[in-house]
Amino acid sequence: MKILMVCLGNICRSPLAHGIMEQLAADNGLDWTIDSAGTGNWHIGQAPDRRSIRTAFEHGVDISKQVCRQFCISDFDDYDVIYVMDKSNLRDVLSLARNDRDAAKVKLLLGDQEVPDPYYNDSQFEPVFNMLEEGCKQIIKTYISNI
Ligand code: 4NP
Repeated sequence: MKILMVCLGNICRSPLAHGIMEQLAADNGLDWTIDSAGTGNWHIGQAPDRRSIRTAFEHGVDISKQVCRQFCISDFDDYDVIYVMDKSNLRDVLSLARNDRDAAKVKLLLGDQEVPDPYYNDSQFEPVFNMLEEGCKQIIKTYISNI
């Protein structure tokens, strides 16, 4: 399975989701390809936000080598599922969908709940990590029970 995690900046939430999912997939013996991207272009080429790097590190996940990139149309061809963090990401990515097949690949990571943007609130990084971990665990659990 090829999964793309998408948020606004690709420096806070989606790099965490990317690192967590990569680790959980490996732990479960799943040969999945995981990547992340942002709908915005402000941070292209940068490493994740240092608060995300630190929070992930404290949980045993290394996201320090990730490099920010922007979501692009070919991602609809290259990935099976595109998980977005909030409804604004959902609107932005769906606005780029070329057809129903593209649109059907786009889902909120937490189902109907949003992952809040922690960029302006340092204390949100830890709860955001935990929400993302729960969401990723649920995705793997559902996948394994459907094999
Ligand atoms: P992210 O958070 O979407 O979780 O990566 C943000 C990071 C940067 C900005 C906005 C959100 N920004 O406006 O630069």
